[in-house]
Amino acid sequence: MKNEQWGNRTGFILAAVGSAIGLGNIWRFPYVAYDNGGGAFLIPYLFALLTAGIPILILEFSIGKKGRGSAPLSFTRLNKKWEWLGWWQVAICFVIISYYAVIIAWAMSYTKFSLSLAWGDDTKGFLYGQFLHLTDDVWSIENLQLHIIIPLALTWGIVFITLYKGVKTGIEKLAKFAMPLLIFLFLIITFRGLTLEGAVIGLNHFFTPDWSKVWDYRTWMAAYGQIFFSLSIAYAIMLTYSSYLPEKSDVNNSAFITAFSNSGFELLAGITVFSVLGFMAFESHTDISELAAGGVGLAFIVFPKVINTLPTLNSLFGLLFFGSLVLAGLTSAISILEVVVAGIRDKFDMQRQRAVILVSILGFGASLIYATGAGLYFLDIVDHFINNFGVVISGLVELILIGWFLNLKALRKEGNLTSDFSIGRWWDIMIKFVTPAVLLFITIQNIMGEFETPYENYPVSALLLIGAGIVVMVVVLGYIFSKFRWNSIEKTKQRKVA
Ligand code: ALA
Repeated sequence: MKNEQWGNRTGFILAAVGSAIGLGNIWRFPYVAYDNGGGAFLIPYLFALLTAGIPILILEFSIGKKGRGSAPLSFTRLNKKWEWLGWWQVAICFVIISYYAVIIAWAMSYTKFSLSLAWGDDTKGFLYGQFLHLTDDVWSIENLQLHIIIPLALTWGIVFITLYKGVKTGIEKLAKFAMPLLIFLFLIITFRGLTLEGAVIGLNHFFTPDWSKVWDYRTWMAAYGQIFFSLSIAYAIMLTYSSYLPEKSDVNNSAFITAFSNSGFELLAGITVFSVLGFMAFESHTDISELAAGGVGLAFIVFPKVINTLPTLNSLFGLLFFGSLVLAGLTSAISILEVVVAGIRDKFDMQRQRAVILVSILGFGASLIYATGAGLYFLDIVDHFINNFGVVISGLVELILIGWFLNLKALRKEGNLTSDFSIGRWWDIMIKFVTPAVLLFITIQNIMGEFETPYENYPVSALLLIGAGIVVMVVVLGYIFSKFRWNSIEKTKQRKVA
């Protein structure tokens, strides 16, 4: 099987930035930042970016470039015993894409609703009632919703076609078109947001630091969680993308460019969302804290309300906002699924096209659970558990294995040889000590927190079966897949780090 490669460096960077910038930037970051002390959140956020985000990104770029294979293959090539870690991350990606695609499908529907402001005045009632047909509890899994399955199929269709076409003619081409367009569209929204009356009220809320939060460990947890999810690290995406780099490529500079582009966009999204919320607070004479709602609530309840209230061009603003969400989501979704495709191809020596067909059918099938009346509950629980106990823990294990059992210094030197600039010993210290220590602390706190208060007061049966169940399932799946035989054992030959 011939190795695929990016057409050029810009293509690779745009694809990596396209993966990083996603739903996490537009609707997750603004709320998380707001909820964790506004301006004060930016301190742990910046700390997490510099100590974990960028070092792990450099690490994953280096391993991918060296391993020249999917996560399971690249880890196997470093150490035969590490293959399961790669499969664990592949399984995490499969879980994430199954609900990530559903949020894109909602955004697609809302793009269409923008034309006629179909959500009406009661945007909350519309979302939960008319749109999601949300049932009363998690276990009432009724009504597969055809009107959600249609945009869901469209989402999967686009992801499918892009991956089917391959790295250069699919992923890279889409990124080169979608990313400049996304930034252009988003700048228009930002400009409109900033010029609305009351925008400054929102910006004040967003940037005024609540210092007491800096001393709260939960703020740090939120900052690390945000960096991991948003930068697409610790679940094998960047590793997979960099496996398509030519051998002599830069890794250090590309990591800095990707990380700063992602955080820059995140900040832009925060500024935009909060200037719009400021306008809303101004218009409705309410306090801004009563408007801001988490995740789904912010994008699909508060934003439609804001769009209703705008003085002119309401539909256009809706189109731009939800359209941006779709664009940002799609370029991330393809990167998440590519991790699974690459793993299956490598292990079973399968052609790209066959692997894409197989994985897309399975993924679409798994997505359907979120298109039922209980879909939102499932989504909320799975998202919470897979991020806190899947991504973060697999990241921790990755750092311990590589930091402590591989010649880190040699890996850094190897990366430095082909990079635009060299990085020093600080990187080793981050990978080996600082970040694993913080992640270990976060994980322990997370586990304790879970026992103290059941997440969002869901029934314990649901948290155990759906939440903890998924976390265990990805580990078990990872192990099972690592036990299958490689179709061509030749390629698993070790690649020593000098
Ligand atoms: N990194 C992607 C996001 O932020 C998954 O949504």
